[in-house]
Amino acid sequence: MNAVAILLAAGTGERLGLGLPKATVDLGGRPLVAWSLEALAKAGVVRGVIVVGDANALAPALETLSPQARMKIVGQAEGGVTRQASCASGLARVAPDAEVVLVHDAARPFAEPALFDAVARAAHEHGAALAAEPLADTLKRVADGRVLETIERAGLWRAQTPQGARRALLVEAHARARADGVLATDDVALVERLGHAVHVVPAPSSNRKITTLDDLAWAEARLKGAA
Ligand code: CTP
Ligand code: MG
Repeated sequence: MNAVAILLAAGTGERLGLGLPKATVDLGGRPLVAWSLEALAKAGVVRGVIVVGDANALAPALETLSPQARMKIVGQAEGGVTRQASCASGLARVAPDAEVVLVHDAARPFAEPALFDAVARAAHEHGAALAAEPLADTLKRVADGRVLETIERAGLWRAQTPQGARRALLVEAHARARADGVLATDDVALVERLGHAVHVVPAPSSNRKITTLDDLAWAEARLKGAA
């Protein structure tokens, strides 16, 4: 199978509040984006990676990569205003012979190589797939400080990345979303709205997205073996 990964690294990291692009923020002595790139380098079914983000901002980070990780980068694309636009920008760079396209957030540094392979294989077999974890908490729908309803956690999963789909399906999903003016925070949501089944690959909670300073502190503690 020929899978290509789009690594989304164009976000500004507003909620982190460090005044620099999130992908370049230091985690354990390396830029955040480097962790995903090293994992993707070890994912056997991923043939190449397209990095989406500002080339000048990312250049120093890419210099820290191992030769294997650097060699796996097959393209770079400018980001868009939204995550979806950044993904579409990367998708436009994917070679037509790619059978499967994976999309991953550079903000998730702990996705294992085996997870990329598993999601790519599931997308190849079923058309589309995502990494997800079962929800541990019961959810409440709240308005004006009052509970409207309790949403039982059974059957609820937290969506993660990597996500992926057969290339033609993902291209169609993005084209239809654009035509319909639909914006999603999730890639396979665009596939779901075409009525296409999406396969779930169970993933660990360590594949957490670094959004806030608390998340970053958790990630540092995890690297030190304390979380
Ligand atoms: N992303 C992107 N292009 C955008 C917005 C987000 O490539 N226009 C990427 C981010 O780089 C990140 C992933 O999508 O890897 C998930 O987004 P998020 O966690 O929201 O990151 P930021 O948008 O950078 O953070 P914030 O929303 O706090 O500004
Ligand atoms: Mg964002």
